This record gives sequence, C-alpha cells and structure tokens, in this order.
Amino acid sequence: MKRIVILASGTGTNAENIIKYFENSSIISVTYVLSNKKEAKVLKKATRLGVANGYFDKNSFRNTNNVFTILKERADYIILAGFLWKIPLKIIEAFPNKIINIHPALLPKYGGKGMYGMHIHDAVVKNREKKSGITIHYVNENYDEGAIIFQKSVEVLVCDTAQNVANKIHVLEQENFPKVIEKVILKNGE
Ligand code: GRF
Repeated sequence: MKRIVILASGTGTNAENIIKYFENSSIISVTYVLSNKKEAKVLKKATRLGVANGYFDKNSFRNTNNVFTILKERADYIILAGFLWKIPLKIIEAFPNKIINIHPALLPKYGGKGMYGMHIHDAVVKNREKKSGITIHYVNENYDEGAIIFQKSVEVLVCDTAQNVANKIHVLEQENFPKVIEKVILKNGE
C-alpha cells in the first residue's frame, strides 16, 4: 500500500476529490490530511470522510520536527492541494520526486510568489490570454519550479471573467489530479 498525506490550506475540494477517488483502492490510500490553518474547511471534510487530520503553525513547520515526523511515519507521497507555504528543504530532501503540487495555471507562466487563487485568474484575464489551465508538478525548493508531470489547457474567451476561468480550471483539477497522482505512483512501483 502506498500512503498519501495531503497538505492543504483552504476549502479542500481537491483533497476531498482525492480522498474519494482512492477510498476503495487496494494500492493507494490517503492516510492523513494536514493544514496550516486550524479553521480550514479541508480539515472538516477530512473528518467527515474518516481521514485522520491535524494542523500546525508556522513555527512548528519551520523550526520543529513535528510535521517532518508525521510525514516520515505516514507518507510515501505528499500531495499539495492548495497548500500555500513553502516546503522546508529538509522535507524536500527526504521525499525526492515524492511531493506533487497542482497549480491552476500553465507554468512557467503565472507561477511564483503571490501567484495563487484568484490573483492568477485575474492576471490571466487582464493579459487577455487565449488559454489557461492546470500544471501538476514535482516540488523543489523554489515555488512552482519543479519538473512538470502533466498540463492541460482550457480556452479563455474574451468574455470570460476571472471567476469563469476559475470555474473551468476547477473542473480540470477535479477530472485530472487524482488520475495523475495514481499514474505517477503506479509508474514508480515499489
Ligand atoms: C486549487 O485551485 C489548486 O490548484 C491551488 O489551490 C486551489 C485549492 O482549492 N493550488 P481547494 O482547496 O482544493 O478547493
């Protein structure tokens, strides 16, 4: 059994989708959900779905081994599903090519610090991009710069608002993220 720990900061629609996708899998299971926000909706979703969960603050993330220890004990893969803090180097080094993020844009465009959530879609619409999309990638020590695993684009129409773009991208995320995670894990085998 390959074990996934999900890190998420917000609503957790991706986390929920991933948990449900692997619910009946005999190969992959989501063992834990961790958030940097005590009140994050993702934690309530995890509880409702019967997945153990917890939260941590910046100090324990950066200056203690608490999160590192949980990950070492419970994770073969770490999935970032809307997680907004940079991952400490110690964790990145302990999980080479085992940390996967989803970014709601076509990297390398619209990545990096400050490029998250609606900021991305606002910029895409403002720049009159003809397409946007999702990027699923490995995580390295720089925001949004790890090797790309998968991208899928969607058309942006001149009449689209940032919210329209966000909705389209949400659909792409729901359709693709769990499948891509599954593919990576199966490909890597033991
Ligand atoms: C998603 O758009 C994801 O691509 C980004 O953060 C958002 C998280 O949404 N990294 P949710 O919490 O899964 O609903």
